[in-house]
Amino acid sequence: MSNDIKRVGILTAGGDAPGLNAVIRGFGKTIIGHYGLELVGFLDGITGLVESRSRPLGPSDLSGILTDGGTMLGTSRDKVQKYLVDGQTHNMVSRVKQNLEQMGIDALVMLGGGGTAKNAKQLMDAGVNVIALPKTIDNDIACTDTSFGFATAMEIATEAIDRLHSTAHSHHRIILAELMGHRAGWLTLGAGIAGGADVILIPEIPFSVESIADTIRQRISRGSTFSVVAVAEGARDHEATLAYSAARALVQRAATPDEVTAAKAHLAAVENAQRSHTFRLANQLEQATNMESRVTILGYVQRGGTPCAEDRLLATRLGSAAADLVMQQQFGVLVAARGQGTEPVPLADVAGKVKLVPLDHDWLETARKVGTGLGD
Ligand code: F6P
Repeated sequence: MSNDIKRVGILTAGGDAPGLNAVIRGFGKTIIGHYGLELVGFLDGITGLVESRSRPLGPSDLSGILTDGGTMLGTSRDKVQKYLVDGQTHNMVSRVKQNLEQMGIDALVMLGGGGTAKNAKQLMDAGVNVIALPKTIDNDIACTDTSFGFATAMEIATEAIDRLHSTAHSHHRIILAELMGHRAGWLTLGAGIAGGADVILIPEIPFSVESIADTIRQRISRGSTFSVVAVAEGARDHEATLAYSAARALVQRAATPDEVTAAKAHLAAVENAQRSHTFRLANQLEQATNMESRVTILGYVQRGGTPCAEDRLLATRLGSAAADLVMQQQFGVLVAARGQGTEPVPLADVAGKVKLVPLDHDWLETARKVGTGLGD
């Protein structure tokens, strides 16, 4: 056992996800109970790190939190290098480093998604001993098999799709269920297959309204006078996909700070204009099929509440593995889920990447084989 690491900080950043408290518990119990180190929790993610807002965490704080939703530490979407103060962004990396030194924090464990991995890498580059853990209901973090929160969100969304079936059936309607997932289709594809959605629309596959209407008409001709369509929040038709891809390319090409600001504003405007796409699609399908249609936005229900057993197990395994890595002084890594085990992956390989659904993924092939429409 190393003597160099005595006090460790932990924080939760980005959107919350079921399993955050389970990780805090798994990490905390191992680092305090098994290895005898001190633990400090930073409040509200990066904000707490910048403002030095924290609380000591002892064994009693870690008791009874395994099943709790949300995060006992609070969270925020603040960024360490672009920290917003009165509308201006500031680079807070040096300040955070100084805060950690003043507090005697020897290592920092950050629970979060892709954005948090980027923040963690920036702190790592500045010399902070940092370890990241993969949290998101979107399952879009690179280099890890999965992330905690995803299995629970998939359960919740699947149950919702199940329930929508009986009401769609009774009223002979099309019901469109919009699911989260940001730019990736994992959640919609997984829950769509598990819930037996008739059509699944994901960002990775641009859709055509006519193709979806065709699937619904074929169902009608076979006697199924209802359809359930699972729509990812990031799904787009061909035209919208072109506009969106062009806007993203503009951001990537922008060279000067002014160009970056203008390109980002344009991208945000394009994304905003596409926000109510599920309602638009419902109207288009109503016209194309002469069937009544309804929309259900599942929204934040997918992120709330207690984690399922699979996420509790994953969270505990990842948290405990992170404590082992702290003791081995293996920093600058994300603790990836790999098969039944875990694997440290360099943050440099993870930061700035997004794991989308590959077009040859087995789940897509399975969906097609069982006759699910993918809108293409
Ligand atoms: O990344 C998780 C997620 O729930 C996405 O699925 C969704 O697009 C986003 O967060 C919503 O973010 P916010 O909590 O900032 O509204």
